Amino acid sequence: MRRFAFFLVAVATMAGLVTLISPAPGHADGQPAPPFVTEIPHGYRDWRWISSAHEEGNLHSLGAILGNDVAIDAYRSEKLPFPDGTIIAALHYRHVSSDENNRVFGQAQSFVPGAATNIQFMVKDSTKYAATGGWGFGHFGTDGKPGDAAFMKSCFPCHEKTKGSDLVFTRYAP
Ligand code: HEC
Repeated sequence: MRRFAFFLVAVATMAGLVTLISPAPGHADGQPAPPFVTEIPHGYRDWRWISSAHEEGNLHSLGAILGNDVAIDAYRSEKLPFPDGTIIAALHYRHVSSDENNRVFGQAQSFVPGAATNIQFMVKDSTKYAATGGWGFGHFGTDGKPGDAAFMKSCFPCHEKTKGSDLVFTRYAP
């Protein structure tokens, strides 16, 4: 019995050591995982609509802000801070005048999403992303590649300005 207990302790110790010395998944060089989101969350295009946003200036974009089920539940029950597992997606497109629609209207009044420009995410995981208010930020261009580390540093300082709403600007459109 005692030998068996010793065996168990030995196995547990080895398992602990293996956990300690193995690099984080996807980082064979042993570097810590980047402090932002590097993979596009699965299924985001099927999520529900929270709101839309149009930006002028250099961006000239039309955005659709979608949330996974955890995000939608939190918004609807006005739960703040957002719980772990919340993911908010911002799908950005060029904001273009629609010739086809305008012909019907008889004047230039219709604007629709043009080419996709990027997709941005905010993923709530208060342990993994503790350094950035519990949110992992993600930015993906049309090539599907994540934004680089320097670019990703800009997200948190600006979003932090809306602390009262847990770093999220978008309000739920009824
Ligand atoms: C200069 C300030 C600023 C910076 C920098 C910034 N954002 Fe935002 N972000 C906003 C504002 C304001 C909104 C709401 C208006 C809109 O959607 O256009 C927003 C909206 C969002 C949303 C929708 C959820 C929400 O908070 O409303 C996501 C997701 C998002 N940003 C991700 C990012 C990512 C990822 C980065 C970094 C690559 C980033 N943002 C950088 C200001 C900023």
